[in-house]
Amino acid sequence: MPSVQSLHTFALPAHCAALITITHSESLFEVDFSKPCYVMGEGSNTVFIEDFTGTVLKIANKGIAVTEQQDVWHVRAAAGENWHQLVIHLLELGVFGFENLALIPGTVGAAPVQNIGAYGVEVGQFIKSVKGYDIAKAQFVELAQAECGFAYRESIFKQILKDAFIITEVLFELPKQWHPVLSYGPLQSLDKNTVTAQQVFDKVIEIRQSKLPDPKVLANAGSFFKNPIVESDQVQTLSKQYPDIPKYPVDAKYTKLAAGWLIEQVGLKGFELGGIAVYHKQALVLVNQGAGTASELKAMIQHIQQSVWQKFNVQLEHEVRVIAANGNVQLQGVQA
Ligand code: EPU
Repeated sequence: MPSVQSLHTFALPAHCAALITITHSESLFEVDFSKPCYVMGEGSNTVFIEDFTGTVLKIANKGIAVTEQQDVWHVRAAAGENWHQLVIHLLELGVFGFENLALIPGTVGAAPVQNIGAYGVEVGQFIKSVKGYDIAKAQFVELAQAECGFAYRESIFKQILKDAFIITEVLFELPKQWHPVLSYGPLQSLDKNTVTAQQVFDKVIEIRQSKLPDPKVLANAGSFFKNPIVESDQVQTLSKQYPDIPKYPVDAKYTKLAAGWLIEQVGLKGFELGGIAVYHKQALVLVNQGAGTASELKAMIQHIQQSVWQKFNVQLEHEVRVIAANGNVQLQGVQA
């Protein structure tokens, strides 16, 4: 059984029944989809907690084509391209818009799945269409932005198309007229009238490097939990007790809370359980200090979920895709 330890950035030891690397999308026609498959890119948002009994399909096709339209740029990128390298490439070409999303680990094909977002920008807003292989139909189809169901860390690819559609290419549309997004705290120090895309890019990299660990140095999978979206009435009650609680309005009824803040408030920032730790600079990130095990990770997830539930009555859902013997699982440490 091939090892998957080096295929996911959390680097827990595990295996899969078979590993297929897809360098050309047409080779998907030859894959036997009657067996369970797990599709991945660079494994920066996936954690294997058991030996997976199916086939891992690693998407590694390449290619970027930029075409100029009247008011916009069209960028067609293969799913296997590295996201950050695409951001750099576009910046060098003078195609702006992705600088807030610099240094996000992973591939282009993974970006729409969880609608990657950072510092006031989500990738879904720039996606014109997503092309992929429809497993049931055994053919390639292209979904327009409106069909992709983008929301905070959500898309149709995690919902009804999970295990049914393999993203092979993404078409982005970026306006030629660049509008810097400087709403996030530390970016507000930049002057919106004179700022360049390069300066935003540099600042984003500085912010990320100051609080997020580099997976090449310290194994991790980025934010481990989603920021929970809860009813605004509950947030109002919490705000009376905790006036400093960070909160972000979503709509008339719901408000998003900062999971990192909640975890820090229950005293778990820097907490270690065997080889797994809550990162000391950003409590939303879990790290594998080298010899961490899956059972320690599961105990850590449960401990965090229970502690936050007991203090705040808020359920934390892990954002990272957790793969057990039969595929994706959602670990739930509390019963609401
Ligand atoms: N906070 C704490 N303690 C912590 C961490 C955060 O009090 O240990 C507080 C901060 O002071 C701030 C708030 O929580 O008031 C939010 O923190 P931060 O700005 O660091 O962002 P985040 O909500 O923790 C999200 C994304 C990140 C993204 C940043 C910036 C999710 C799950 N995570 O983190 O994305 O880079 O915002 O936009 O939405 C990722 O998905 O892997 C990721 C890194």
